[in-house]
Amino acid sequence: MPAYFHNPVASHFGAGSLNRIVELTEGQTVALVIFPEARALGLLARIEALLGERLVHIVEDVQPNPDVAHLRATYETFWREAGACETVLAVGGGSAIDTAKALMVGTASGRFDELLGLLAAGKPFTPPRCKTLIAAPTTAGTGSEVTPWATLWDAGAQKKYSLHLDCTWPKAALIDPELMLTVPAGVTVSTGLDALSHALEAIWNVNANPLSDTFAISAIEDILDCLPRLRGDLENPDLRARMALAALKAGMAFSNTKTALAHSISYEMTLRHGLPHGIACSFTLPHVLGLAWGRDAVRDQTLQRVFGADLHQAQARLRHFLHSLGVKTEFSDYGVTEEEAGAMIRHALQGARGKNFIGSQAA
Ligand SMILES: NC(=O)c1ccc[n+]([C@@H]2O[C@H](COP(=O)([O-])OP(=O)(O)OC[C@H]3O[C@@H](n4cnc5c(N)ncnc54)[C@H](O)[C@@H]3O)[C@@H](O)[C@H]2O)c1
Repeated sequence: MPAYFHNPVASHFGAGSLNRIVELTEGQTVALVIFPEARALGLLARIEALLGERLVHIVEDVQPNPDVAHLRATYETFWREAGACETVLAVGGGSAIDTAKALMVGTASGRFDELLGLLAAGKPFTPPRCKTLIAAPTTAGTGSEVTPWATLWDAGAQKKYSLHLDCTWPKAALIDPELMLTVPAGVTVSTGLDALSHALEAIWNVNANPLSDTFAISAIEDILDCLPRLRGDLENPDLRARMALAALKAGMAFSNTKTALAHSISYEMTLRHGLPHGIACSFTLPHVLGLAWGRDAVRDQTLQRVFGADLHQAQARLRHFLHSLGVKTEFSDYGVTEEEAGAMIRHALQGARGKNFIGSQAA
């Protein structure tokens, strides 16, 4: 079947690309969604100076893994006070970008629960109003700047909502590695592993093709080489730039394939066991690699371009890589019994993301 690849986001990459917000928002009013540490880092003041009077609303109390309990008030204040603004600028990790994606989708009533109701129904809908999104990631991981998806968490009810509309594709992504120089070691590792997981999940995926593979393979090679070195040299601008590019490539890959089994498993590990997203979706990668291997000759060839022809060596390499970053790779390391793990994998295979996994039919 002929391959197809589509990504409508205008991507700007390189040190200083944040400054492009000036020309990209010319003549518009802007609401800013930014991670909490940005004020102390001087980044908020820099953006205020760049945007001047165009900046009409600021949301800076972004929570990691944005939860509906917190989003409700933020959403309703946003639409009440800044409902007329044209652009939402998200500056932060996936939590800030996903928060911005939730805010930008306007319901008829301006009430957040109306949006949740639409998401819970799981049917496509066209919102009566939607803002334009510009996303500047400050972590190298989620790829949310080049995807239309947002994950909204409901820890109270132990579930999550997936937001995905045509209008939630960012109009532009500004990938400025200088913004990532202050990311602490733990977040650098977990976000980098999120990107690795995106790239691998884009390969063992029923939606994969040679175009998505090109981005995915290149991302994996960069991350395997670069992330351990960056962990030991966090202020190195060249390594930050390589990881930023690798996360962008992984984001491009899965923007067309979506994720698969490792992510499907991760949601339960985050909700039930509190694991950070990047760890939750990467500790199973050696195991999922074993489940993917031998399912599809073309997928095997792609995996073997990265890992060579021997499955056991490939799994050992991935395990060693994760262990070298301080990440444990067995369910039992996280207090999950073998029986629970088996049930979790079976359940994950039935989920929307699990069904993208090439082994899902046969498993
Ligand atoms: N939409 C998508 O396609 C997609 C894909 C993967 C993950 N996600 C979502 O992204 C979220 C996780 O995002 P994340 O992994 O980027 O972490 P995050 O955004 O939660 O950030 C982690 C921590 O680092 C801080 N931080 C961010 N940038 C910083 C910087 N430059 N300097 C210092 N501190 C900084 C944040 O304030 C936060 O405390 C989850 O909610 C997950 O569901 C979305």
